[in-house]
Amino acid sequence: MSRLFLRKSVQDCENDILERGGLKRSLGKWHLTALGVGATIGAGIFATTGTAIVGDPVRPGAGPAIVLSFLLTALTCGFAALCYAEFAAMVPISGSAYTYAYASLGELVAWIIGWDLIIEYAVGNIGVAIGWSGYFRELLTHFGLHLPAWLATDYRSAHMAAEAVAAGATDASSRYLASALSSAPHLLGVPLIANLPAFLIVALITVVLVIGIKESANSNTAMVVLKIGIILFFCAVGSTLIQPVNWNNPATGGFAPNGFAGISAGAAIIFFSYIGFDATSTAAEDARDPARDMPFGIIMSLVVCTVLYIVLALVMTGMAPWQGLGTPEPMITALALADGSPRLLAISRFIVSLGAVIAMSSVLLVFQLGQPRIFMSMSRDGLLPPFLARVHPRFKTPYIGTVLTGLFVAVFAAFANIAEVVDLTNIGTLFAFVLVSAGVIVLRRQEPDRVRPFRAPWVPVTPMISIVACLYLMFQLPRVTWIRFGIWLVLGLVVYFFYGVRHSRLRAAAAAAERSEEAA
Ligand code: ALA
Repeated sequence: MSRLFLRKSVQDCENDILERGGLKRSLGKWHLTALGVGATIGAGIFATTGTAIVGDPVRPGAGPAIVLSFLLTALTCGFAALCYAEFAAMVPISGSAYTYAYASLGELVAWIIGWDLIIEYAVGNIGVAIGWSGYFRELLTHFGLHLPAWLATDYRSAHMAAEAVAAGATDASSRYLASALSSAPHLLGVPLIANLPAFLIVALITVVLVIGIKESANSNTAMVVLKIGIILFFCAVGSTLIQPVNWNNPATGGFAPNGFAGISAGAAIIFFSYIGFDATSTAAEDARDPARDMPFGIIMSLVVCTVLYIVLALVMTGMAPWQGLGTPEPMITALALADGSPRLLAISRFIVSLGAVIAMSSVLLVFQLGQPRIFMSMSRDGLLPPFLARVHPRFKTPYIGTVLTGLFVAVFAAFANIAEVVDLTNIGTLFAFVLVSAGVIVLRRQEPDRVRPFRAPWVPVTPMISIVACLYLMFQLPRVTWIRFGIWLVLGLVVYFFYGVRHSRLRAAAAAAERSEEAA
């Protein structure tokens, strides 16, 4: 039991890097910022904002006050980002929160975080794939191709849309999704409904990643320029279509129709759109000067995304009455509902859907690339089976982990409901933020003299605010999300106690050292 909290020394982590050949330290502070922005802007802003504005059967919507939700979440992430930055500068090794925890809080907490990161990366990508599919379907319509709904959604979404239509909803998106139930072929009385585009995009990305991709900082920068460009384009077009009454219409509940409850519930949903700024920390080994540039990259990418999101939210809720925006493609819906030249609106819908599809593909790629690498770190430490660290002889990629991740994500993307997946991703990631923030406090106590090139200000106040704020957002998520997350954690502990405990390299080394001490 005493070995549950064994820590892997920073020296050991560095030796691991030497063993496998370190990476080239080539990224400067703006490259790192671009990396964070590239991993962050995706399905969260493009797809989940609608639910956050309108709400769903289990929670109230924020209405036009969604801008305050974005601000609340940005503040929460800001406090967590300071904690990440302290760790990333102190333990400049790739592997993100898992590695920090191993070096600071010990093996058991590291395992919990590593297991939890599966939720952030793999489950998160299920959500991104479903979001991608919605915009892809819209894009196809501009080429005259109309996918039947039963091949482009999941059973739960179709069922919820049918209920909304029965309750009087008339928007095109609800009617389309609801049609899946009536048009689907049946097998033994069960309607066959699956999100085929979501499945296929994950399959395609998996193949690309197995063959190997040269992800260069330059291609990432191009992607980031495109993402920022598409958001600015939407804001520019949208700003000419704003009708200020939409922001504060007494007939529809005013600026914040559901008060602080709606703002908070919205904040917990759109947290998804901020996930990824922490991914900058996975590039610590590539950073030229990690001590100075990692904190800059993490915090600056958060600032850039926050500014873009807030402007976009203001424009979107000004373009159309907020109750109409609750679709899986809210930017397209805003353009469909806005009052303007039909030609301009149609062209804008085409440009936004094309941009969104490309933007979300890059998030899919980054997260789908990250998950097998986290598996690899855990497998090298003996906490997961060795086949997950096996590298393909020709392609030099961790192919088994990549294919397993691909299968898991693709199958769930075909059948899962985006809101449920996003909730689970958010609770898991918020929990990782809580542990990282707690880690900062613990390590300041345990090792006050360790060199900290970047020190989060006002410790322990900053990490404590981060913990409280993350827990607050976690409590805004539905009960069923907590139950699912609890089951996931218990499953993780079972795997650890049946596998990790027996195979951990660190525990084996500690046991060997103890035995040789006893023999002496
Ligand atoms: N933040 C990422 C996205 O919104 C996960 O797609």
